[in-house]
Amino acid sequence: MSDDKAGVYPVPAEWAHAKIDAAGYREMYRRSVEDPHGFWTEHGRRIDWIKPFTRTGDWSFDAEHFGIAWFADGTLNVSANCLDRHLATRGEQVAILWEPDDPAGEGRSLTYRALHDEVCRFANALKSLGAGKGSRITLYMPMIPETTVAMLACARIGAIHSVVFAGFSPEALAGRIQDCDSTIVITADEGRRGGKTVPLRANVDEALTHCNSVEHVIVVRHTGGGGAPKEDGREHDYAALVAAASPDCPPEEMAAEDPLFILYTSGSTGKPKGVLHTSGGYLVWAAMTHEIVFDYRAPEVYWCAADVGWVTGHSYIVYGPLANGATSLMFEGVPNWPDASRVWQVVDKHRVTIFYGAPTMLRALMREGDQWVARTERSSLRLLGSVGEPINPEAWEWYHKVVGGGRCPIVDTWWQTETGGHMITPLPGATALKPGSATLPFFGVVPELVDAEGKLLEGAAEGNLVLATSWPGQMRTVWGDHARFFQTYFSAYPGKYFTGDGCRRDADGYYWITGRVDDVINVSGHRMGTAEVESALVAHPKVAEAAVVGMPHAVKGQGIYAYVTLNAGETGDEALRAELVRWVRHEIGPIAAPDAVQFAPGLPKTRSGKIMRRILRKIAEGEVGSLGDTSTLADPKVVDDLVANRVPAA
Ligand code: WT7
Repeated sequence: MSDDKAGVYPVPAEWAHAKIDAAGYREMYRRSVEDPHGFWTEHGRRIDWIKPFTRTGDWSFDAEHFGIAWFADGTLNVSANCLDRHLATRGEQVAILWEPDDPAGEGRSLTYRALHDEVCRFANALKSLGAGKGSRITLYMPMIPETTVAMLACARIGAIHSVVFAGFSPEALAGRIQDCDSTIVITADEGRRGGKTVPLRANVDEALTHCNSVEHVIVVRHTGGGGAPKEDGREHDYAALVAAASPDCPPEEMAAEDPLFILYTSGSTGKPKGVLHTSGGYLVWAAMTHEIVFDYRAPEVYWCAADVGWVTGHSYIVYGPLANGATSLMFEGVPNWPDASRVWQVVDKHRVTIFYGAPTMLRALMREGDQWVARTERSSLRLLGSVGEPINPEAWEWYHKVVGGGRCPIVDTWWQTETGGHMITPLPGATALKPGSATLPFFGVVPELVDAEGKLLEGAAEGNLVLATSWPGQMRTVWGDHARFFQTYFSAYPGKYFTGDGCRRDADGYYWITGRVDDVINVSGHRMGTAEVESALVAHPKVAEAAVVGMPHAVKGQGIYAYVTLNAGETGDEALRAELVRWVRHEIGPIAAPDAVQFAPGLPKTRSGKIMRRILRKIAEGEVGSLGDTSTLADPKVVDDLVANRVPAA
């Protein structure tokens, strides 16, 4: 990667009108870190409060006084901010513009008024099933407007939603339902993706054979597949509930620090963590970053091409855009079906001005050739965004030149499930761009680089990325395990939040994320814990031991490479390899499927029995010439076998 001036893209002249220019950014940033109380007193007011806050950040990252709160004495309702407050000014404007999987299918759009009506009815229906403040409700939903309705209905009554990505297996879903003891599950009969159907309701039925907290399952009839809901007292038809409910549902008054949602994400160890976000700070952060980073101007059509099952969908399809009165496009389909023009056809059809997507999608489309892009106009586009993983400069240049016709700035937004919203990102009217760099911190964000011992690195340097101060969108705890929250993020470098990412800062102060430094793999912009894949593998009756590492992958960014030691007497052949891949897909979901499985008679371990992943990573990367010191291994000879039997990626 180069950071020389030749690769710099200055702010285009047409962007002189942007809300914040370079001088404005510097001044606002200075104020945000020098006078955080004054800054957040002003910016906290961008949302509507029932009882205004007087406090802003109350936090400490130290073990002794550990705690994080923002705007703590204020009260609000998040759904009222996303709906009610727009009714007088933009009630007839489209809030959700829904584009179906099948280009020939019928789209739908819901105005703010229609969305408000449906959310209120569904919120009343949830209440009639016993839900209220603090209840946990799991959503296992396709990309349809009802998913947004369900999230906002939870927010309206103070229930905590936990959206589980619809690509996860019944087993993974069951674990996430059990962890937070959800009493209600909302799903659809089937989802649709790329012309295929996904059996969501059948997966829920299977998951529920392992869970006993669930009292009600609400099914949206989307495809009509799988028959009508059973109406057996546990299963309910979404449409029937909505039709029967009153449209009058006053929003519940919530404290700023009352939970809004739980979202499970993989870590370096153990089972997925329930990341908890609260109401006030999260909404301020989602709304503020959405408006400023995307320079959003209502009522233009904005499209975040993520799934609502991930944090990107929460913050940038639902909460940020709707708090800002945006028209948010929701796409049910996939980028390469029916063909590789689909995304850009949707852009043309709906005159999308801002498009936000992941590098993995760009790399997949780039491979198909420019002709698929060239046959579309894309003249409505004025800004492009990238999220989820480092964007390689080749993909960046392609996005800029071929997709954006050289006209549109690219905001490469670095953030995490834990941060709630953008943290290091360009502002399109303020920041000169360098392909592959997430550039500079957003307001109130104080990034620092430290070495392995925690020594602060100054100037141009490379190290581990930590954040020195809290910000309103920060996660507040791990559901049910506050000790794990502290341990995971605040123990490695006392007094700082550790991101898990490696990062370089260049001479201009620009940040270049280099990828995870922990045992987390970033597959297609989605986080996968190596420990999770390992425990799925060892659950197979023929597997004795497994070690999983990341490897470079041309489209996914990182692929999953699994070393598997079989039980005595088993033979590793192609059939077993395929079976193990299927097994992991079934245990966790397709995103966890290994790209390479190597059968290994032994794994490289230290004399104390610790697997030396550094060596496994090198072999998976194909860098067998630079394995480093192997003399501390209990049995250095295992390495020769591993090198000799390396598997090329599928
Ligand atoms: C991890 C967080 C951000 C929402 C979607 C993923 C990586 C994310 C970037 C970027 C380089 C990035 C980091 C981070 N990441 N955005 N623009 N440049 N890396 O959220 O699943 O919580 O994953 O994604 O490694 O730690 P997530």
